[in-house]
Amino acid sequence: MEKEVMEAFVRGLPKAELHLHIEGTLEPEMMIDIGRRNDVPLPYPDAAAARKAYAFDNLQSFLDIYYRATSVLRREQDFYDLTAAYLEKAASQNVRHAEIFFDPQTHTARGITFDTIIRGITAALSDGERRLGISTRLIMCILRDLSLHNGLETMEQALDYRDVIAGIGLDSAELGNPPAKFAELYDRAHRAGFLTVAHAGEEGHADYIRQALDSLHVRRIDHGVRCLEDDELVAELVRRDIPLTVCPLSNVRLRVFASMREHPLKRMLDRGLRVTVNSDDPAYFGGYVNGNYLAAAEALGLGRGDIVTLARNSFVAAFLSPAERRHYLDEVDAFAVLHHG
Ligand code: HPA
Ligand code: ZN
Repeated sequence: MEKEVMEAFVRGLPKAELHLHIEGTLEPEMMIDIGRRNDVPLPYPDAAAARKAYAFDNLQSFLDIYYRATSVLRREQDFYDLTAAYLEKAASQNVRHAEIFFDPQTHTARGITFDTIIRGITAALSDGERRLGISTRLIMCILRDLSLHNGLETMEQALDYRDVIAGIGLDSAELGNPPAKFAELYDRAHRAGFLTVAHAGEEGHADYIRQALDSLHVRRIDHGVRCLEDDELVAELVRRDIPLTVCPLSNVRLRVFASMREHPLKRMLDRGLRVTVNSDDPAYFGGYVNGNYLAAAEALGLGRGDIVTLARNSFVAAFLSPAERRHYLDEVDAFAVLHHG
């Protein structure tokens, strides 16, 4: 397909985004502005210098820069502005539904209250739903490089916000922090009625994905790209129809794969895995969701059929009611019929 045709096709396609860290949408310009108004010093004179510093060797080298940037967020208004800007951007890319991660521990460790974070984010989500017609869910991620005890305390705080937090996830430095470390926390989450997901198989081996299934009993795997190391695991993921929220630009920028041409997205689709495409931390990795679809499509030769499958998968994998899911899938199918090429 011609480049312009593909761009228009991806732009118009209705889609859900399921793997998006709200702190990872903090664009350098907003980071500098909020840093100034809150008197938080940053190691960059301007936005261009920050962008230049965003060159990563691995997940940890990204996390160091990401947590430092996140420290500018202090007031309810900051969390509101961050979330509102993401929703505007997402809506402009025809994201119809977004499931948004936030990392409370990185803020509460700096003395920001749980209530400040939640109020800012949820106010922007309600305004976004009303103004932009985009539906959303909020997923609280536990930082896996902190202790189980710290995670459990954070879970206790989340219980007071059961009405606005739909699910629990697990992120941050993967290697050395296997899913099984958090079995007790996920047990608690399930008993409290939360949906659950976990990052697994980004830098960690296929065994981390298996642990996330067997010890944490998650509904979805975030990343999961290393499942291809284990044929039995792939068969199980297919049989149980476990969705994988893949983030192509993130994987290349964090050097999980040396280039987009080596990314396994197409092979994963061809194996029948329930793969979705997402942006992870778009302010750092060079593209929002459409940028991820296009970079993968170009490098891997995806066709219209693959792209439509990815968009359909995003709604199949989303935490939606059957009626909402049907509604969005009908939107995708209507678009595909109109633009079948
Ligand atoms: N992996 C782990 N932790 C994260 C990521 C990621 O891609 N983004 C933000 N926190
Ligand atoms: Zn992530």
